[in-house]
Amino acid sequence: MTNDPRPGPVPPPTLEARALEAQRRAYAPYSKFRVGAAVQVSGEVFEGANVENASYGLTVCAERIAVFAAVVAGAHRLEAVAVCTEASPPSSPCGACRQVLLEFAPDPAAVTVTAVNPHGERRSWTLAELLPDGFSGRELP
Ligand code: THU
Repeated sequence: MTNDPRPGPVPPPTLEARALEAQRRAYAPYSKFRVGAAVQVSGEVFEGANVENASYGLTVCAERIAVFAAVVAGAHRLEAVAVCTEASPPSSPCGACRQVLLEFAPDPAAVTVTAVNPHGERRSWTLAELLPDGFSGRELP
């Protein structure tokens, strides 16, 4: 028995909603800049949030935590990214995270990166726009 008055199956939350939800789990006592991320990888959604450390340089961004969770689960094909911060306009992934996202993007022009905030603002790019001519590793021997 459920109290949900909506008819039929409930659609899964969007990637943006998952990023918003993940933001609540950020550990950001130093910067107070809470970041949530959700990535769709090989058809599945993985969440991340920034995790800071008293030794500031050990901090890991939300986007990288989400991508690494996907890889550890065996998912490698990056399809879409959503990031949630309090910033207005919504802030985009840092350069280091763009490079990590590129590693798992077979087609960076087909990966949409959407930045949102809890107030409903939204900006969106492709990964190719965020990291043009990125280092793909194809140059390696
Ligand atoms: N941060 C992220 O989680 N993702 C980004 O793309 C930019 C920065 C985090 C790292 C740190 O915890 C805080 O935001 C301030 O830099």
